[in-house]
Amino acid sequence: MNIEVPLSGGDVTEGVVRVGDTVRRPFRPHTPAVHGLLRHLERVGFDGAPRVLGVDERGREILSWMPGNVPHRPLPRYAVTDEALRGVAALLRGYHDAVGSYEPPPDAPWDSAASNLDGPPELIGHCDVTPDNVVFSGGKPYALIDFDLARPTTRLYDVVTTLRHWAPIADPVDRDALLYGADVGKRIRVFCDAYGLDRDSRRDLLPAARLRFERSYQAMRLRAEQVGGGWARIWHGGAGPRIRRAQDWLERNWDELEAAL
Ligand SMILES: Nc1ncnc2c1ncn2[C@@H]1O[C@H](COP(=O)(O)OP(=O)(O)O)[C@@H](O)[C@H]1O
Ligand SMILES: [Mg+2]
Repeated sequence: MNIEVPLSGGDVTEGVVRVGDTVRRPFRPHTPAVHGLLRHLERVGFDGAPRVLGVDERGREILSWMPGNVPHRPLPRYAVTDEALRGVAALLRGYHDAVGSYEPPPDAPWDSAASNLDGPPELIGHCDVTPDNVVFSGGKPYALIDFDLARPTTRLYDVVTTLRHWAPIADPVDRDALLYGADVGKRIRVFCDAYGLDRDSRRDLLPAARLRFERSYQAMRLRAEQVGGGWARIWHGGAGPRIRRAQDWLERNWDELEAAL
């Protein structure tokens, strides 16, 4: 039983396949760093991430398959509820608590072409908690997958990045249909409450989002140019103007969002 089922949902990495209860993904320069991280999560008993099972005969990484549903776009109703949002916040908090004790090797080859916030790193963030990268079971989010962008960062950066996709901090024209009219301020608060974000971090959240948008615009442009592949596809599919619209939307709605926090 060696049937390979292509998994194209995430549209960044080519050649991701399911084989039985495993996932095979191309081995890349940052893969050893990610494996160190996943092994730490296993050691401390964090169940919300795949296990590293090794490398196959074709040199691909082998990860455990996380059973359940991944909400690909267009987002299904179960993925846009306040309950789902609370679940994602709790999952991210659980991940942060589990990863907090991880001391990676100083030369771990994280994929670091990406944007970051100012300030000293606090932990290894997931840095890409999109709906594509969260697995639900019984209607509840229970696992993070796709740690390709994991790297040293701050808790707040990971929170802001997650909110970018899940609140979402986006112009209504770029949102999923079910979130077109969402009360984003309220959803940000629901998320922060479930995560347990402290007062200071809440105050810093919108400025962090502002900085992140600018950094990720530059980082995505660079990735499209230098890495190509899925990144170039996303960029030429309009990622740049989408970030610009999100920036404008954030500035226009700043006071209302701040009041909701
Ligand atoms: N370990 C896993 N368990 C369950 N589903 C997975 C797993 N790994 C990948 N998938 C599915 O395959 C899709 C693409 O894989 P992903 O690792 O996110 O690659 P990409 O870099 O393309 O986003 C995911 O959105 C998810 O639907
Ligand atoms: Mg993915």
